[in-house]
Amino acid sequence: MFTLKSKIDTNSPEFQNNKKKFVSLLDEYKAILKENTRGGSERAIAKHKERDKLLARERINLLLDPNTPFMELSPLAAYNQYNNGYPSAGIVTGIGVIHGRETMIISNDATVKGGSYMHYTVKKHVRAQEIAMENHLTCVYIVDSGGAYLPEQDTVFPDRDHFGRIFYNQARLSAMGIAQIAIVMGSCTAGGAYVPAMSDETIIVKEQGTIFLGGPPLVKAATGEEVTAEELGGAEVHTSISGVADHFAENDIHAIQICRNILENPVCRDKQKLNIVPVEEPLYDPTELYGIAPVDLRKLVDPREVIMRMVDGSRFQEFKAKYAITVITGFAYIMGYPVGIIANYGVLFSESALKVTHFIELCTSRKIPLIFMQNITGFMVGKEFERGGIAKDGAKMVHAVSNANVPKFTIIFGGSFGAGNYGMAGRAYNPRLLFMWPNAKISVMGGEQAATVLVTVKQDQYIARGKEMPDEEIEKMRRPILEKYEREGSAYYSTSRLWDDGIIDPVDTRKVIAMGIAASLNQKFPEQKFGVFRM
Ligand code: COA
Repeated sequence: MFTLKSKIDTNSPEFQNNKKKFVSLLDEYKAILKENTRGGSERAIAKHKERDKLLARERINLLLDPNTPFMELSPLAAYNQYNNGYPSAGIVTGIGVIHGRETMIISNDATVKGGSYMHYTVKKHVRAQEIAMENHLTCVYIVDSGGAYLPEQDTVFPDRDHFGRIFYNQARLSAMGIAQIAIVMGSCTAGGAYVPAMSDETIIVKEQGTIFLGGPPLVKAATGEEVTAEELGGAEVHTSISGVADHFAENDIHAIQICRNILENPVCRDKQKLNIVPVEEPLYDPTELYGIAPVDLRKLVDPREVIMRMVDGSRFQEFKAKYAITVITGFAYIMGYPVGIIANYGVLFSESALKVTHFIELCTSRKIPLIFMQNITGFMVGKEFERGGIAKDGAKMVHAVSNANVPKFTIIFGGSFGAGNYGMAGRAYNPRLLFMWPNAKISVMGGEQAATVLVTVKQDQYIARGKEMPDEEIEKMRRPILEKYEREGSAYYSTSRLWDDGIIDPVDTRKVIAMGIAASLNQKFPEQKFGVFRM
C-alpha cells in the first residue's frame, strides 16, 4: 500500500483558522457531554447514593474488564428536549469488554425520573438490542427502573418499536443463542418486570431489587391487600419462592461479580476471520483533523487528508484513482483491521455510483468491512445527467450498499444531504454504527435550496393566476425555512433523536471503527446476495 502525502500546510492561516473554529465546536461538545453524563439532579444522585447504590456508569465500570474501553452510545439522546430533564434519555448503553468478549450493556439511570422510559429511552434500549442482534453480542441489563414514563404513554407503549419490543427482542436474542443476563438493582415494575423475567439468568440485589407486575399501591387499590415491596417482590421472595430470579446478591458489587462469573463460561460460536495485521498509528497526527474538518461546508475537503489521519501508517491503496474523482475508494487498515473506504469529494455522478458499486462488490467478495465517509450534497441534477441515466446508476449504488453483507460503518464528517445520504449508507441502510463529527450537518437538502424550491413552487402558483409574488412574501416564506433547516440540521438535533449512535471527537474515529469491527466479528458475515441491477 502507498503512504499518502499531505498537501496541507498546517501553518497556513486557513488551517489555523479552521482549527480554531473546530476546537471551539469541540469544546462546546465536550462541555455538553460532561453535563449530560453526570446523571439526574444532585438531589436524585444524593438520594441514590444514600441507599448504598452505585450510579449507572459506576456499575458498568465495575462490570467490564479492568482497563478496557467502554464505547458509550448516544450519550446525548433527548438532549435539548424535555427541558433537558432527561440526560442521556435516562439510560446508558454501549459496548464493553467482559472476559475478553464484546458485550452490550444496557443500564437504567434511576437518578433520571426513577429510570422510567420515555420515547427516547425506549428507542435507545431497542437500538442497543438491535446492535446486539446484528453483531451477536451478549446483553447485560442492569435494571433500576420505574417502567413506562406514564405521562407519555402514547409515545412509549402502543407502537411496534415501543416498550413491548424490548421483551420481543429478548426472546428473539435468546433464541439466537445470544445470552440475556439481567441484574436487578432497583425497581422493575409492571412491563419492566419482564426484563428480568425474560432473561436467561437473573441476579437480584437484597433489599434493593424488586420485581412485580403491580406495586403495593396498585395491589391495595385493586384487591385491598396491604403488602410491602419486599414481601411482594424482593430478592428473598424471587430467589427462594417464585423462582423469577436465580441469584441472590448482597449488594451491587456482589451482583456484578456474579454476573462476571456467569459470563466466564462463553457460548461457543464460529467467529468471522479477517486478515488482521499489527496495529500502527497514522503517520500524520490525527489532531490535525481539527484544521481539516469542514466547519464551513462550502469548502471542499480532499478526503484523502482525512483518511491519512485515520488509517494505520497513513497507507491507502486507492482504487480507480483517476476515474470518477468526486468519490474516493480504496483499501487500508484501521487498528490492524482491513477496511474498504468510500469517501466523498464532491457531488455524485453516474460514474461515481458505478465506481462505488464496483468497489462494494470487491469488498463483499473479499469480506472486507466497509467505511463510508460522508460529506455529500447529493447526486448531480440536470438534463444531461438525467438523460445519461443517473437515476439507474444511483440505484445500482443503493442496491449494492443495501445488500452488502460485510459490516458497514458510517462517519458523517461534513454534510449529509439528499439521496447522497442514502447512497453513502445513511441510517436507513443499516450501517452497524453511525457517528457524526460535531461540525456535521444532516437534512434532506440545504436550507437555502429548500427555501428556494418552496418559493419557486409558490411563485409558479402566483404566475398561473397572472400575478407576481411580492418580495416581502418571499422573505416571509424563506426566513422560517432557513431557520428550521439550520436548527434541525445540526449534529445535536440528530443525536438527540437517535438518528446516529453519537457525536465523536474526530481523533476517536479510528478507535470507534475498530471497536465496531471487533464486535462485528462475533458472528460470520452472512452469505452475499445482490438483487437486480438495472443496466
Ligand atoms: N412515570 C413517570 N414518572 C415516574 C415514574 C413513571 N413510571 N416512575 C418514577 N417517576 C418519577 C417520579 O415522579 C419522580 O419524579 P420527580 O423527580 O420529578 O419528582 C422521579 O421519577 C423519582 O421517583 P421517586 O418515587 O421519588 O424515586 P424513588 O427512587 O423513591 O422510587 C420508583 C422509584 C420507580 C420505585 C417509584 O417512583 C415508582 O414506584 N414509580 C412508579 C412505578 C410504576 O408503577 N410504573 C408503572 C409503569 S407501567
